[in-house]
Amino acid sequence: MTPASADYPATRFRRLRRTAALRDLVQEHRLSAKDLIWPLFVTDVAGADIEISSMPGVSRLTVEGAVRAAETAARLGIPAVCLFPYTDAALKTETCQEAWNPENLSNRAVRAIKSAVPDVAIMTDIALDPYNSNGHDGLVRDGVILNDETVEALVRMALAQAEAGADILGPSDMMDGRIGAIRQALESQGHKDVSILSYAAKYASSFYGPFRDAVGASGALKGDKKTYQMNPGNRDEALRLVARDLSEGADMVMVKPGMPYLDICATVKQEFGAPTFAYQVSGEYAMIKGAVLNGWMKEDVVLESLLAFRRAGCDGVLTYFAPDIARLLASS
Ligand code: PBG
Repeated sequence: MTPASADYPATRFRRLRRTAALRDLVQEHRLSAKDLIWPLFVTDVAGADIEISSMPGVSRLTVEGAVRAAETAARLGIPAVCLFPYTDAALKTETCQEAWNPENLSNRAVRAIKSAVPDVAIMTDIALDPYNSNGHDGLVRDGVILNDETVEALVRMALAQAEAGADILGPSDMMDGRIGAIRQALESQGHKDVSILSYAAKYASSFYGPFRDAVGASGALKGDKKTYQMNPGNRDEALRLVARDLSEGADMVMVKPGMPYLDICATVKQEFGAPTFAYQVSGEYAMIKGAVLNGWMKEDVVLESLLAFRRAGCDGVLTYFAPDIARLLASS
């Protein structure tokens, strides 16, 4: 429904755009640091933080560095961080057993952050790619990504993360049936209050390129992820996946990538009314950051890109810009 307005000149839209005060007063959607989840890359490689070449301004952090980042998040009012481990190549195998090692890098980082900054929510990633010698999110046999065997591995991984103290589990693997299996295991193993933010509509996207550099998966990946991640040409399928994941026990759902898929974000929120998130992925970050660093766009384009998610109906956004946004908002 488009609200009725009188004809010009009785209606002049510019009346309410005349001053900053009037513009503020009638602004429909707003962005706050509280809407953000800050993804962090963690590494065991000792020494200085290492900047990721395809993501200027983003570094891999040691566990100690991740604790400091979580402290920064708390100070800036960012409610949650999301951890992605850069796993030592020597620990990557075809069986991926490091994924459910209680002492793996991700689980150690969760414990360290929980004990130092208990008020910041910690999200973890559930997928086998950081631990897989062939770079895939699932177990592979004869070139085929196995669904049901992978789900069993993901359940083990989820339980280890819940045990370590993760608040939000983020299955990003796109196997069928994993949400129900993980939810059931959490319920039966004493983790009924651990929430699941399902990567429900995750597209097979080239926008993930810089991320794969960041977690050291680019070299390892054989082939592509098109047999499990979605075809970018599909919309109805996204809605069916969201419905499926919510029915299996997801508390929140995600659309990924973000900006090229805002139509999906808007429809998901409208259709289901569930907590809906978007992931402004590494490639989106690289595009915007690259242009800003080159002086091709002003830095406030970052805020505009995030406000678009709120306007589309997203409750929150995972973004590498999280600390920058919090600072920009605080100074505006
Ligand atoms: C892997 C995973 C990916 C991202 C988050 N989890 C990459 C992929 O599916 O290959 C991408 C995040 C980004 O690009 O910022 N399970």
